[in-house]
Amino acid sequence: MQNDKADHAVDIALQTDADLAAIESLMAEAFGEKRHSRSVWNLRPGPPVPELCLVIRESGETVGSLRFWEVMLGEQRILLLGPLAVRPDLRGRGFGRQLIADALTRATDAAKWPLVLVSGEVDYYPKFGFVPAAPYGLDWPGFIEAERLQFFELMPDALAGLPSGPLAVRALPG
Ligand SMILES: CC(C)(COP(=O)(O)OP(=O)(O)OC[C@H]1O[C@@H](n2cnc3c(N)ncnc32)[C@H](O)[C@@H]1OP(=O)(O)O)[C@@H](O)C(=O)NCCC(=O)NCCS
Repeated sequence: MQNDKADHAVDIALQTDADLAAIESLMAEAFGEKRHSRSVWNLRPGPPVPELCLVIRESGETVGSLRFWEVMLGEQRILLLGPLAVRPDLRGRGFGRQLIADALTRATDAAKWPLVLVSGEVDYYPKFGFVPAAPYGLDWPGFIEAERLQFFELMPDALAGLPSGPLAVRALPG
C-alpha cells in the first residue's frame, strides 16, 4: 500500500532484518519488558508466519508492526493475530487499521487458514469484522479475560463448521 502525499510517504511491507530493532522497541513500549510472560506467548514457541510479518513505515521509518503465528484450534491450524503496535506519538492516524486490513487481505488471499483468532482490545477488533469467541468454548493455555478472544472468518462458514467446545487453543506440535 502506498500513499505518496507530501513528504509523509507511508507504506506497508514485509519486515526485514533492518526493522528488527525498531520492532523490539515498539513491542517493549506497548507491552512492557515482561510481555513474554503473558499467556498468549505460550502459543508462540516458534517463529511467526513470514508472509504476514508486516511493518508500516512513514518516510522510511518503521512506526508499526503486526505479526501472526499459526496455532492449533482443536485439530486445525488457524492464525493468531498479534502482537500489533504503533508508535505512541503516531496512534490514531489509521496505521493500526491499515496494518490489519492489509494483513487480513493477505491472509484471505493465501487461502491456507479458515480463521484468525486474536486476544486483544475488546472494542478495537469488531470494526474489522471480528466477533466474540466466547460462544465457542475455547480452552486457552493460561489466564485470559474471555471477552478479549475474538474470531475473524477468512473462509465462509468457518465458524459454523467448528465442533462444539471445549476447543483447545494450543501451540503447533513439535
Ligand atoms: C491498538 C493500536 C495498535 C491501534 O493503532 P492506531 O494506529 O492508533 O489505530 P488506528 O488509528 O488505526 O485506529 C483505528 C480505529 O480504532 C480506534 N482505536 C484505536 N485504539 C483503540 C483501542 N485501544 N480500543 C478501541 N478502539 C481503538 C480508533 O479510534 C479508530 O477508530 P475510528 O475507526 O472510529 O476512527 C495502538 O493504539 C497501540 O499500539 N496500542 C498499544 C499496543 C496494543 O494495545 N496493541 C493491540 C493489542 S490487541
